[in-house]
Amino acid sequence: MFDLTDKIAVITGAGRGIGLAMAQSFAEAGAKVAVVSRTESNAAKAAEAINAKHPGAARAYAVDVADGAAVAEMGKQVLADFGKVDILVNNAGLTRDGLILRMSEEDWDAVLDTNLKGAFHMLKAFQRSLLKQKDARIINVASIIGLMGNAGQANYAASKAGLIGLTKSLAREFAGRGVTVNAIAPGFIATDMTDVLSDEIKTGILSKIPLGSMGTVDDIAAAARFLASVEARYITGQVLVVDGGMVM
Ligand SMILES: NC(=O)c1ccc[n+]([C@@H]2O[C@H](COP(=O)([O-])OP(=O)(O)OC[C@H]3O[C@@H](n4cnc5c(N)ncnc54)[C@H](O)[C@@H]3O)[C@@H](O)[C@H]2O)c1
Repeated sequence: MFDLTDKIAVITGAGRGIGLAMAQSFAEAGAKVAVVSRTESNAAKAAEAINAKHPGAARAYAVDVADGAAVAEMGKQVLADFGKVDILVNNAGLTRDGLILRMSEEDWDAVLDTNLKGAFHMLKAFQRSLLKQKDARIINVASIIGLMGNAGQANYAASKAGLIGLTKSLAREFAGRGVTVNAIAPGFIATDMTDVLSDEIKTGILSKIPLGSMGTVDDIAAAARFLASVEARYITGQVLVVDGGMVM
């Protein structure tokens, strides 16, 4: 079940957190993984850890997904190294939280440029190869904040809602080619991104999660592995919410 043997996957933000867990899970399923991270050391460390368990499964690429020209170069290198791409996971993301009254244009742009435009850049780099595969998969990591909004996260919510709109449009454009495009909307997952929240905020969030705990990176990796698999071939344009029941 959920076997990815001989598949080539590109995962952004795979140096740590959710992206790293996805890369490990995909490698375990038999895929070869291009581990894309902004920092070279994180990408290299992640690929090394994966290769220790699954020799030859991972290669590291350092790129800022917000930089279109750099992404195009990295894309050429990935295709030269692997020959094709079957699965693209747009997972790289960041937050620059603040109330809209005080939000700077810089913080707005930084979040939109990485979370939303980064996915566009990655798509441009790999669209031809993905469309050639006939059964390719695109998975965009959105957030429940893109569905429900959040005070203090207007930029982040807009980027994730935008990613959901992008997902549905691409799903329609690519459906005739057998390529599925879906989004995962994680709730509150224990990673560096949520580690910075105060205990008070974490307690407040926990009280709103019906299943009673924060999610783990493996919960999101499992959802991605399913959407990447042949078993999910009839699912496209969907937002798979993985949040312990917060949004229902
Ligand atoms: N942790 C959560 O609770 C949660 C909830 C909903 C959605 N998400 C989303 O899941 C994704 C992964 O988040 P995480 O919790 O693992 O966060 P994280 O901060 O641990 O990891 C994010 C990764 O993205 C990379 N990244 C950031 N900007 C980049 C850029 N411009 N170019 C290339 N790489 C870049 C970082 O280097 C890092 O490796 C993000 O898109 C995030 O918005 C997380």
